Amino acid sequence: MNVYDSERLQGLLVSAGHKMTAKAEDADIIVLNTCSVRGKAESRALGRLSELQRHKQNNPEVMLVVVGCMAQRMGEDLLKEKPHLDLVLGPDQIFRLPEYLQNHSDSARVAVCASRDGFDRQTIWEHDILPERKTPFTSFVAVSRGCDNFCSYCVVPYVRGPERHRPADQIRREVELLAQTGCRGVTLIGQNVNSYQFGGQDFADLLQMISQQTEIDRIRFMTSHPKDLSDKLIDKMAGLPKVCEHIHLPLQSGSDNVLKKMNRGYTSGDYLRLTDRIKARIPEASITTDIIVGFPTETEEDFEKTLDMVREVEFDSAFMFRYSVREGTKAALLEDDVPEEEKLKRLHVLIDLQKDISLKKNQRLVGKTFEVLVDDRSRRNPGKWKGKTEGNKTVVLEGDDDILGEIVPVTINEADGFTLFGKQREKVCAR
Ligand code: 5AD
Ligand code: SF4
Repeated sequence: MNVYDSERLQGLLVSAGHKMTAKAEDADIIVLNTCSVRGKAESRALGRLSELQRHKQNNPEVMLVVVGCMAQRMGEDLLKEKPHLDLVLGPDQIFRLPEYLQNHSDSARVAVCASRDGFDRQTIWEHDILPERKTPFTSFVAVSRGCDNFCSYCVVPYVRGPERHRPADQIRREVELLAQTGCRGVTLIGQNVNSYQFGGQDFADLLQMISQQTEIDRIRFMTSHPKDLSDKLIDKMAGLPKVCEHIHLPLQSGSDNVLKKMNRGYTSGDYLRLTDRIKARIPEASITTDIIVGFPTETEEDFEKTLDMVREVEFDSAFMFRYSVREGTKAALLEDDVPEEEKLKRLHVLIDLQKDISLKKNQRLVGKTFEVLVDDRSRRNPGKWKGKTEGNKTVVLEGDDDILGEIVPVTINEADGFTLFGKQREKVCAR
């Protein structure tokens, strides 16, 4: 979502007459878009901000702006702590940056961050912005902003505000425009796309509409919350050829005790029944996930249950994190009682297990042929292309010279835990 916001902001600034520089330090206005989801993301942003402050000390005419979730969370405090900062804008205010730039006086230092109740409910979608994208063949398109789930560890509902759904027709228009300008695949994004509702349409209806009423070739979506993933959506995934056979379905923990304390709204049994239904309906589906280790009170036994689930579901890949306390969340009231070295140990055990599973699953694909959307040259393998399968696996391939941006059949001849390697089978005509 932050990448998408940066792309939209970039589009907005370019249409207001600004030019992008290759390096931040060459610019007159430097905008740092920040994430708050884990402590590490914030400490990296703060580190970068310190560097930029030093740059501004030597170049006082530069304007320094911090936007996004950390800006929202810290607000005025950020201005107090960082004396060279000019402007702080929360995630929904960033689209007003050109206005602020126009009206900015050198001495004014401002933080504009709404409270959760004050988030913009109506006008947020009215900005008709065409994002500036670095990836011409695949794009993110937001279907909602914010979140109402309040998982106990998570800061997102506080910093990104309440869930607001984007008008379906606007989503369709953005996807159509992308398709007309050479984009082949979109990822529809929202904190919980499965709760999408607009004008009587749910997310499954939206997928059908985008699939049937636009020229886009591939549609992906993320993130799906297990508590809201309907059979109707699984059916649409199975029945609509443009919808990729990939689902990102965060598990977070395999222990029912921990899931309850996380306020996730499902049990490990519910999750397994759900993934069984997906596998039965879409046997080729890739299932990927997010997992947190070391949530307060997580015992060795709880952690073992997470490992059991990982073995049972056999995820294609996983993002795995150490729990990090986020101020203001419900979980922050619990004692962070799993020692850091224990969290790290569990994380490594989990990563090793997942690595083995990813490798095993990828190796099962050797000999098979997949449609691959070729999106770039491979940097590590000169002369080869890289692309993605519908299941979101990265493929490095040998192929014709002119297949950039095309979807070509590729036979896999080798695989490691992260990448498939293969050869183009025959050329198909581009759209
Ligand atoms: N600590 C660790 N991981 C977290 N995530 C969200 N909040 C936290 C936290 N406080 C992880 C979850 C989520 C992903 C985007 O980040 O796994 O799905
Ligand atoms: Fe955070 Fe839960 Fe919302 Fe995801 S669904 S953004 S983890 S509160």
